[in-house]
Amino acid sequence: MAARLPGFGFSGKAGRTAAQPITYLMRIAVQRKDLISLAAGLVDQKTLPAEEMRRLTQELLADEAAGKEALQYGSTEGLAGLRQALLEHVCKLDGVAAEDLSVDAHNVVVGSGSQQLLYIVADILVEPGDIVITEWPSYFVYTAAITSLGASVRAVDMDQDGMQLDALEAVLAELRRHGELHRVKLLYTCDYHQNPTGITLSQPRRQGMLEIVRSYSRHGRICLVEDAAYRELSCEGVAPRSIKSFERDNAQVVLAQTFSKPFAPGLRAGYAILPDDLVEPVLNQKGNHDFGSSNFVQHLLLRAMRSGIYARHVAMLRQRYRQKRDAMLQALQQELGDFEPGKTFWTRPGGGLYVYLTLPEWMDTGREGPLFRAALAEGVTYVPGEYCYGPDPRRPVPKNHMRLTFGTVSEQAIFEGVARLARAIKKVSRSRARQVAAGVREAELP
Ligand SMILES: Cc1ncc(COP(=O)(O)O)c(C=O)c1O
Repeated sequence: MAARLPGFGFSGKAGRTAAQPITYLMRIAVQRKDLISLAAGLVDQKTLPAEEMRRLTQELLADEAAGKEALQYGSTEGLAGLRQALLEHVCKLDGVAAEDLSVDAHNVVVGSGSQQLLYIVADILVEPGDIVITEWPSYFVYTAAITSLGASVRAVDMDQDGMQLDALEAVLAELRRHGELHRVKLLYTCDYHQNPTGITLSQPRRQGMLEIVRSYSRHGRICLVEDAAYRELSCEGVAPRSIKSFERDNAQVVLAQTFSKPFAPGLRAGYAILPDDLVEPVLNQKGNHDFGSSNFVQHLLLRAMRSGIYARHVAMLRQRYRQKRDAMLQALQQELGDFEPGKTFWTRPGGGLYVYLTLPEWMDTGREGPLFRAALAEGVTYVPGEYCYGPDPRRPVPKNHMRLTFGTVSEQAIFEGVARLARAIKKVSRSRARQVAAGVREAELP
C-alpha cells in the first residue's frame, strides 16, 4: 500500500470561495419534480430562441468560408464586427453617440457571460483587505466573488429608487475619516431591475452617483461597475439611461451587459464597455482564462443582431415577462394582501425577473429556519434573503426577506407557487401565535 498522501495545499482564494448557496436550491428543484421553484433565476424556457438559432447556425455553416472562420479560434477581446454592433446597440439604448462618451469598439470586450468580465474587473483591481461598495441587498454571486478575492463589502441602503445617495456619501465620508478611502476599489451597482429586489436606480440618481464616486476618487480612482444584466427586460415606461452614458471621459464606469437575460443564457455571452486603462489588464487576465469567448457563438450573435432577430426576441420577451410579473403581483396580493399589513410587503418591479418579499421581522426565511422547511413541505422554494446581504462586517443580516422569481415558471405555477408559499407563511405564523399564547419566551420563539 502506498503511504497516505498529505492534503493539497489550497490557495487562500480557494479557501475563501464557498459553494454558491443557489446550487442547493437548483439541486432540490431538479430532484423534486413536484416542487415549484420560485428560486431559480433561469429565464423562461419556452421563449428560448431555438428555431432562430437553428436557422442562424444553418446559414452560417452553409457558407463554407464563414463557417470555418467561426470554427477557428477568435481573439481575446472578441469578434470585431460584434463589438462594433454592441457599441452601436448600447449607444442606441442610451440615445448618445460613442464619441460623446470617448469610447470606440476597442473599449468593448466580449466575455463568456457578463459574469466573467465582472469577475475579471474585480480581480484586476481588488486585493485582500480592500473594500467594495454594494447595494444592500446585492447580487449574491458578485458579493461571493468579492469575498473570494479577500475584499469586504460596505453596503449602502436602498429605497424604491435604488441606492440612496446620501447614504452612499455618508459611507464614503466615514471611510475617508478613518483613512480607509484608498482601500475602496469598486462600487458595484445592479441598476436595472436589480437582482434580488427588482428595483431600478432612478434617472435623477444616476448622474448623482457618478458625481459622488468621482468626488471621492481624487487620490485613488474608484471604479463604478454598472451591471445592467436586466436592462433590456424593462416592461414599463422608458428605461433610464445608463450611468455610463453620463460619463464624458470614459474614466471610471464599466458597463456590463449580457445576452443571457434578453436572449439565451446557454450561449454564455456577455460584454462590457471599459475605461481605456482597464482594457489591457482585463484582456491580459481573460487571456489566462480562455483567450477568447466562443468565436462560433459570437458569429451567430452578430447575425442575430444584424438580421433583427435579437431585437424582435427582446420585444417578445418584454411582453411575456410583463404578463408573468403581473401574475406574480396579483398572486401576492390575493394570497398575502391581508397578512400582517405594514409588515408584509413586496417590490413592484418595472421589469427583470424578481420580486422581493419582506415579512414581519420575526419571520426567519433562512434555509435553516421554520419557513423554508414549511415551504418545502408545501412544495415551493424561494431564495432566502440572507444570501443577498454582505458580507458587511458592520451590519447584521436581516432574516425576513426572500427573492421570488417569475422568470422560469408558468403563470399557472406562479399562482400555485405563491399560494403554497402563503400557506407555509401562515402556518409558521399560527404556530408562533400558539407558542406566544402558551407563554413561550421571546428568545425561544422561532
Ligand atoms: C445581476 C446579474 N449580473 C450578472 C449575471 C451574470 O449573467 P451572465 O454571466 O449569464 O451574463 C447575472 C446572472 O444571473 C445577474 O443576475
